[in-house]
Amino acid sequence: MRTIAMIARKGGSGKTTLATHLALAAHLRGRRVMLADADPQRSASDVLKLRQAEGPQVVETAGPKLFALKVAALRDGFDYLIIDTPAGPETEVCHAIVLSELSVVVVRPTYLDLVAAVRTVEILHRLGRPGLIVLNQAPFSRTGAEPPLVRKALDALKLLHVPIAPVTIRARMAYQEALSAGMSVEELSPPTPATAEIEQLWSVVQDRLAGRF
Ligand SMILES: Nc1ncnc2c1ncn2[C@@H]1O[C@H](COP(=O)(O)OP(=O)(O)OP(=O)(O)O)[C@@H](O)[C@H]1O
Ligand SMILES: [Mg+2]
Repeated sequence: MRTIAMIARKGGSGKTTLATHLALAAHLRGRRVMLADADPQRSASDVLKLRQAEGPQVVETAGPKLFALKVAALRDGFDYLIIDTPAGPETEVCHAIVLSELSVVVVRPTYLDLVAAVRTVEILHRLGRPGLIVLNQAPFSRTGAEPPLVRKALDALKLLHVPIAPVTIRARMAYQEALSAGMSVEELSPPTPATAEIEQLWSVVQDRLAGRF
């Protein structure tokens, strides 16, 4: 079983959006996946309650209970445990990080998010745990060239010595539309550019888990 934590010391960066999308990506590829909602806001749980079709198993939990949950998920033959964490207390997030083979740091290209990313990555370095940075809610490139905001954010993130996902998730209505129906953008018809972003993110996460970069 692979355990993945979605983390950010900044509210609203997109942890829940990407946690639910990765959980649904695993589910849609025929894997057994448990989504641990370790955020007292219960947003991941609220999203997946809206789902009509079969989906990932959602468990509402908290940092200190994650170890027992991981043992139970292993025992029950799950392929993935994906943990959605709160932006809040470091101790809560640490539980998820130490139990995970990979912590995905979700960052928006804003000054305050970048400052928070430095603090988030410090925790990973201190705990000696592997990470993957994902830029989310990025503006579109209108001319084909990356907007300066995105370029500057990527340059700053390179200084943190944590691999950066070679796919940038853009700010798209499709993400909000899909989640408001408990679905992934991969299930929207017709497909949108968000579909390709999530497909790429899924394969990047697999590559990072396999130590390919
Ligand atoms: N790529 C995106 N495109 C458009 N909207 C997005 C995207 N990612 C997230 N959002 C929206 O931004 C808001 C915050 O996202 P989300 O709840 O996933 O963040 P979070 O990091 O889990 O927040 P919190 O810290 O409160 O748990 C939501 O309204 C969500 O729909
Ligand atoms: Mg959340």
